[in-house]
Amino acid sequence: MPDNTIVQDTRTGKNPEASKEMVPPDHLTIKDSRTNKEYPVPIQNGTIKAMDLRKIKVSDDDFGMMTYDPAFMNTASCQSKITFIDGDKGILRYRGYPIEQLAERCTYLEVAYLILHGELPTKTQLADWTHNITVHTLLHENVKKFMDGFNYDAHPMGMLISTLAALSTFYPESKNVHDAATRKHQIHRLIGKVPTIAAFAYRHHRGLPYVYPDNELSYPANFLSMLFKMTEKKYVVNPVIERALDILFILHADHEQNCGTNAMRSIGSSQADPFVSTAGAAAALYGPLHGGANEQVLRMLREIGSKDKVPEFVKRIKAGEGKLMGFGHRVYKNYDPRAKIIKETADKVFEVTGRNPQLEIATELERIALQDEYFMKRKLYPNVDFYSGIIYEALGFPTEAFTVLFAIPRTSGWLAQWEEMLLDPEQKIARPRQVYNGYDTRNFVPIEKR
Ligand code: CMC
Repeated sequence: MPDNTIVQDTRTGKNPEASKEMVPPDHLTIKDSRTNKEYPVPIQNGTIKAMDLRKIKVSDDDFGMMTYDPAFMNTASCQSKITFIDGDKGILRYRGYPIEQLAERCTYLEVAYLILHGELPTKTQLADWTHNITVHTLLHENVKKFMDGFNYDAHPMGMLISTLAALSTFYPESKNVHDAATRKHQIHRLIGKVPTIAAFAYRHHRGLPYVYPDNELSYPANFLSMLFKMTEKKYVVNPVIERALDILFILHADHEQNCGTNAMRSIGSSQADPFVSTAGAAAALYGPLHGGANEQVLRMLREIGSKDKVPEFVKRIKAGEGKLMGFGHRVYKNYDPRAKIIKETADKVFEVTGRNPQLEIATELERIALQDEYFMKRKLYPNVDFYSGIIYEALGFPTEAFTVLFAIPRTSGWLAQWEEMLLDPEQKIARPRQVYNGYDTRNFVPIEKR
């Protein structure tokens, strides 16, 4: 017979059956049909604590009730003050500031400071912060040698992930994760070095000599210089391109508990150092359903080939032949606000670089999908990755490098979430439960009898 547990929400009606003793004002009353017992469970911030369910038992030796939530569809794993998303309304804010205002008025380094410190920096704070990041842009020469070992066609994300992990061996003091000054030092190192690793991966891939950081340039301009400088004495960056890249960095800086950030918190919760934790977060980002989608979008647009082939392609997606990459989101059930800003930024970039021919196919794909019943019913809208790759391509980046461009700015978000997790007294090592549904005890069978 199935369980029949009755749940009542006291915020929406009276609850005469709940015990009057020790009952918090906002609570759910859960009635267990197996025992006929009732349990008032406190409600806080629209959630109940999964641990409060443990007291629901059929007998003293029962382990107690758990929740089952594969893929964390409806589970808050932490409390956070960093990023707010309202997926139905298409709202994204860092530390309370709307993404639109930050993208218009700030630099990425200013936003990274905000995300990590909770407040926008004063002029002096920004100057110190920029200095601290800039003095950490160089890589140890042995890191360069390590990167030389990769094959010429190694994927830049594989190189980034491995090199981030390798940095842990260069800075063993980073293990001291409970020391605030040590944490701060590693945060400066990581934000400073990630663009250098990314640029070296690109140069290695192209068989070009590495370009060392130029600390007179801004964060995005230095990155562009390390990527594209040839024999000229000083790389001259087009200010429109520099600003566009900075905006893209701002848009990608944090996105609350996504797959990569969850990996960062999970690895960091074992008190692993921030280099290996960041490597793990980057590995999660690499997947095609997450940050790897920007690379897949470009491959998809190339496969479609021309605007007139879009309806046929959409038909194939609806028939279950793959996904429309760059569409859909676990949280946004409306237009991703980042995609809107990226589309506007693309127009400015194309004035300098010329129009990317893939844009026409992407715009047609969006137009058709947004009026199609399949996508409307499932609330599937373009996400951040739909248009970002088109800009990256126009800026001269190879398709394989797109996800690296996501990882560079996300490093500040990962580090902010990592530090918040370490300082949160409610957090412990992340260790989910499971529902075991395999065999009960079996006796060993020798190999000759199997
Ligand atoms: N194309 C076609 N159908 C889709 C798509 C898509 N891109 N995304 C979701 N669906 C369908 C899905 O098949 C399901 O249909 P049904 O109800 O008939 O089974 C329904 O929509 C709900 O999707 P879901 O897979 O349950 O949603 P999810 O929350 O588990 O997955 C997602 C979210 C982003 C992984 C998914 O939408 C997806 O795979 N999108 C394409 C990859 C992509 O663009 N990823 C980048 C995400 S934004 C950047 C980041 O932060 O990572």
